[in-house]
Amino acid sequence: MRPAEFCVHKPGLILKGVIFMAVRIVIGAQWGDEAKAKVVDYLAKEADIVVRFGGGANAGHTVVVNGEKFVFHLVPAGIVHPDKVCVIGNGTVIDPAALLSEMEELKSRGISFEGRLFISQNAHLVMPYHKLLDRVEEAVRSEDAEGGGRIGTTGRGIGPCYRDKINRTTGIRIVDLLDREILREKLLQNIREKNQLLTKLYDHDKMDEEKIIEEYLAFDKQIDPFVKDASVYLNDAIDAGKSVLFEGAQGTLLDVDHGTYPYVTSSNTTAGGACTGTGVGPTKIDEVIGVAKAYTTRVGYGPFPTELTDDLGERIRKIAQEFGATTGRSRRCGWFDALVVRFSARVNGLSSLAVTRLDVLDTLDHLQICTAYRYQGKVLQHFPSDVRILEQCEPIYETLEGWKAPTTRIRRLQDLPDNARRYLDRISALAKTPISLISVGPDREETILVDG
Ligand code: IMP
Ligand code: MG
Repeated sequence: MRPAEFCVHKPGLILKGVIFMAVRIVIGAQWGDEAKAKVVDYLAKEADIVVRFGGGANAGHTVVVNGEKFVFHLVPAGIVHPDKVCVIGNGTVIDPAALLSEMEELKSRGISFEGRLFISQNAHLVMPYHKLLDRVEEAVRSEDAEGGGRIGTTGRGIGPCYRDKINRTTGIRIVDLLDREILREKLLQNIREKNQLLTKLYDHDKMDEEKIIEEYLAFDKQIDPFVKDASVYLNDAIDAGKSVLFEGAQGTLLDVDHGTYPYVTSSNTTAGGACTGTGVGPTKIDEVIGVAKAYTTRVGYGPFPTELTDDLGERIRKIAQEFGATTGRSRRCGWFDALVVRFSARVNGLSSLAVTRLDVLDTLDHLQICTAYRYQGKVLQHFPSDVRILEQCEPIYETLEGWKAPTTRIRRLQDLPDNARRYLDRISALAKTPISLISVGPDREETILVDG
């Protein structure tokens, strides 16, 4: 919408309403739940391969096709397109039980996987002890007064699994699942160690080692047909001119390095994670699209300067049905924060923005956009990476008139109400990033492609 002058690196490859074949990363530009899967599903029309590169079953990716709703946790959202291949990269953490049950459910709805789903041999496995420790550790934290220390994790074992990966000696990878001897040995050692932690530190019951070993040894035959050297597969495909779409999970502000640490997830959710999480080098990437809601939400704890804790926040939550797709928790809602999205544009090198859920704001009289923060009497233009500063920041708002008209049926930028266009223009200018796509409803078709 604001063409080249705001482009960070190169003009986007969505031009004149046409999505060009490319290698493209789609990333969350806020705190997750930006409707990335809807954007991935839309762009997947022109892709050959859709790839998850980070996170695990903590993600909840919702796609609506002709009114039918699909929620994905580990399987890439591209699987709803019958002609696409999907890959789960090495940067993810895979709970095999969760993956197989997700696949069973999708199979019952007519989705096939044979020859269409590949899993990197280097992805790490989420084990029952990771899930248990995730919950036990969070429960201990929550004993602190005023919620101090709580992260509000999804309880899917993500943090403990990535911890074992980084620890090296305790991590178990997909490749280990295929070697029964090694798996037994590693599991035995790990479960004994975790049982020490559980009983001595957390006063919790032990886990039954033989039961877990028996359950996990049985996964080998079910997972084996899907295992591949994903780096070789993806690079060969890119070299052969195939179009690849990287599907980010969570959001930039939940990145373990760049996010609002410690209130983050345990992986690199930013664009760089697509490279390290798949074995595809940065020179192969053509475009990075940041997905941002037309307002802001967050699940779990941690600072959120533009949060609306009043009736309006509740109203937005109700209109938008802001409840977690994985945990069902209420999402915290607030105004669009331009500092957050400008920060995302920087750390991801965004080529363009996809602004989603514009229709949620259709009935509001006035809209506010946070343009800067006030901190100890000073005005901050940049999102501070230190949460202790962020916690004390007060948003400085600019007020815009609402458009008070339904937008869901609109398919062309020029047909949007003037005030909606003004709002989008302002977002784009403040984020210093052009807008390439606007979503006006959950369905695949409820999308506006912006002419370059
Ligand atoms: P974990 O990823 O389960 O360890 O949770 C860490 C933080 O990230 C918590 O605040 C979660 O609510 C948040 N989180 C994890 N996955 C998602 C997601 O897919 N969408 C939004 N928030 C998420
Ligand atoms: Mg989600």
